[in-house]
Formats: sequence, C-alpha cells, structure tokens
Amino acid sequence: MELLTKTLFLCLALALTNGGPVPPHDAAVEAAALPDKCAGIEFDAVTPDEKGNTLFFKGSHLWMGYHGEAQLSSELFKELDDHVDAAFRMHSIGNSDNHNHIYFFLDDKVFRYSNHTLQDGYPKEIQEDFPGVPSHVDSAVECPRGECMVDSVLFFKGNDVHVFDITTKTVKTKTWSNLPVCTSTLRWLEHYYCFHGHNFTRFNPTSGEVTGVYPKDIRRYFMKCPDFGHGSSYSVPKCSDVKLDAITTDDTGKSYLFTGHIYMRLDTRQDGLHAFPITRGWKEMIKGVDAVFSYGDNMYLIKDDQVYIYKTAAHYTLIEGYPKTLKEELGIEGHVDAAFVCPGEHTVHLIQGQTMSYVDLSATPRAVSQNLPLPFSIDAALCNAAGIKVFQGSQYYFYLTPMLLAMSRMAPQPLPVTNALLGCQD
Ligand SMILES: *[C@@H]1O[C@H](CO)[C@@H](O)[C@H](O)[C@H]1NC(C)=O
Ligand SMILES: *[C@@H]1O[C@H](CO)[C@@H](O)[C@H](O)[C@H]1NC(C)=O
Repeated sequence: MELLTKTLFLCLALALTNGGPVPPHDAAVEAAALPDKCAGIEFDAVTPDEKGNTLFFKGSHLWMGYHGEAQLSSELFKELDDHVDAAFRMHSIGNSDNHNHIYFFLDDKVFRYSNHTLQDGYPKEIQEDFPGVPSHVDSAVECPRGECMVDSVLFFKGNDVHVFDITTKTVKTKTWSNLPVCTSTLRWLEHYYCFHGHNFTRFNPTSGEVTGVYPKDIRRYFMKCPDFGHGSSYSVPKCSDVKLDAITTDDTGKSYLFTGHIYMRLDTRQDGLHAFPITRGWKEMIKGVDAVFSYGDNMYLIKDDQVYIYKTAAHYTLIEGYPKTLKEELGIEGHVDAAFVCPGEHTVHLIQGQTMSYVDLSATPRAVSQNLPLPFSIDAALCNAAGIKVFQGSQYYFYLTPMLLAMSRMAPQPLPVTNALLGCQD
C-alpha cells in the first residue's frame, strides 16, 4: 500500500474507533493508571537492552523503545518490583563469557541480568562489584576504551562523576558542574546523553564538556509523542528506492552507507538502524558526498572536485589542510561516482562513468597508474575479503576481484538490495 493510503486508512480507523463503542470500564481505569511518557516525566534510568531496544524506567514501570505503552518492570525483570536508581548495559567490554549484562542499581544494591534472568549471587552490595562507587547513585553508563581512556563505567551522583576502571577496579572522581544533575544517562550510537527533567544534554564522556545547543526535549528526539515533531526524523530509506552515493567499511570494522544528506551505520544493529544527517558525523560535508573510501586510519570523502580526509577515531575529525582538490590529492579530475580500497591493499579504485582508474595511495605524488573500461556505470562499491559488491540503484552485483569487474563483458545476475545487507526497509 502507498504510504499516503496507509495514513488515510489509519486516520479512518482511528476516527471509527473514537466514535465506536466505549471500552469496558476496567480496561479504561487500568489504562488511565499507566504513566504517560509524553507528559514530561523525569526518567529514573535509561539503558539499552541486549537487543538494542532502549528501556526507559520510571517508578515501577518501563517503556521499551520509542513508542508503546508502559508496562511493569517486573514483567521483564521479575525481581525489579520497585523503582531503579540507575541502569546500564555492559555490552562491548569486560565480558569474558561474551554475554551482555544489564546492571540495575537500587539504593545500595546492584542487580545483574543476562537474558532477563537475574544472575546467581545477585542482588549484592554495589561495592562488591564496584568498589569505591557510592550507594544511591543517580545514573550510570558504560564507556568503552576509545571513547573513554580505558574501559569504564561512569556513575553520576549529584555533580560528581565516579569513573570506574573495569580492569583495575579503581575509581577516579571528577566534578562536572557545567552539567545538570543527570537522573539517567545513556550511551547511544557512541554518543553520551544526560537526561534531566524532560530534557537531555549530550556530553563528552571524558571531559563532561557540552558542545551544541542543549538542553533539548526528550520527547522530540527519544520518544514518539503527539504534538512533538520528531527532531531527528530522517527516515530509513526503502530498499526498493535506495540509491547509494557511497558505502565504506573502515579498518576498525565501522561500516557506513551514504545517500543524499543522510548516512546510516551498518555494523551497530544492536542499537537499531537509524538514519542521520551526514553533518552529524562529518561536520564539513554539508552538500553530501559523491564517493567515499577508507584507507588506514583515514576516511576519504569526495564531493565535486574536493577531497576531505578525516581521521578515524571515536569521532571523525577533518585533517588540517583539507579539503584539497582531486587533482592535488589523487591526480585525477572530473566527477567521481564510486571509490573503494580492498582490505590490506594500497590501491584506490576510482570509478568515473564507465572507467575505473587505479591510484597507488602509497606513492607520492599520486597518479593514475591504469585505466580500465567498465561494463556499466555504478553508484557505489564496497570491497571486503569475500569480493566486491557493486551497487546500481536498488540492485547490486557481486565480483570476486576488481579485475573481474573490469574484464567481464556481461553483467552477472543482479541481486536485490535487502534489509539484511543495507538496513533499508524491505
Ligand atoms: C533466553 O531465555 C529464553 C527463555 O527464558 C530461552 O529460550 C533462550 O534460549 C535464552 N537465550 C539465550 C541466548 O540464552
Ligand atoms: C528544558 O529545556 C528548555 C530549553 O530548551 C528550558 O527552557 C526548560 O526550562 C527545560 N526544562 C526543564 C524541566 O529542565
């Protein structure tokens, strides 16, 4: 069904329901008793679960994800029949058994769950697991190495933050008076959010610094609430409509696609799939990108005749002196449609119309060493250990090597772009 038809259908259904029979009395009373997440409440704790749903806690209730009704926390975590002070998911760090754990803090106790089952020996005193961390914390959030100096958990209490080093089990306490008191904190897609009242403030997890315009209203960004437009409403494209501008995977395994003014991260499905404006990750790319490739610690973004090189770290920073022209940086001119480097190699393949040029990135100055004709023009290409995926609209072709791509006179069977491949909507 077309979206418009669907929307009309939904409106009609709602109109009919509103004028329809009154629900039985008990159900109405029960529904009224559930807290309303859109009423501007202050959450006690916010954490992702093992599957990447964000859980919001208030009193004895929780919400799973950005829409839907409140439910009793004890329906999902049997022993949590009271409020919680704080919660975090230990996801990427400190897990010898490779399981995600969710930790909950209540007064002076800590509860640890795995797959919604309370682990043996819990609840226990907070200090048994986290020596040096005070009781009655306001909030907690994990912070892996790379984003923090070492694998850490940040515990907030008032304006103090107790930084717990997971490996040495030691605590350093800092005071971040510039931040409001965070009643809950969340790490989401490598960014850190302090929730206070019905607002949130994004902060730097090592310095507490805030850059950008904050606070912002939680209901506009983390909830679906009537009367609150979704501030980050960049919709995930439909697979049948996808037209990539670029796709790349960097040396650390971070994988991105770019289309129009948005990008999507493909390797963090446990946090759900989301579209963001490209400028959120690469501030200077206000006009989108034509082609992107990764080489060593750097990501090269090409737009028109300019090359922007970003240093890959927890976040991307433009290297001083850039952008430079294509001619200056790569020794070519004209519009670039796609670019890729295969793992462990030093050659970038630059595709312009039906020509593929090879440029050795380890040579100075850089120049085209070879030009090969291509059987067709392409939008974007990605090379990994298995081979090369070449994207053309909502289809892609698979080749084992760049040479086979250039040499085959007939295109292989096109394959449809799917949700599993690109995270688009099937
Ligand atoms: C999680 O628990 C459910 C039922 O309680 C079980 O069916 C499932 O296999 C468990 N999953 C893991 C990964 O242990
Ligand atoms: C939320 O933030 C707005 C500014 O964006 C501010 O005016 C308001 O007082 C804040 N409200 C609370 C409850 O923190």
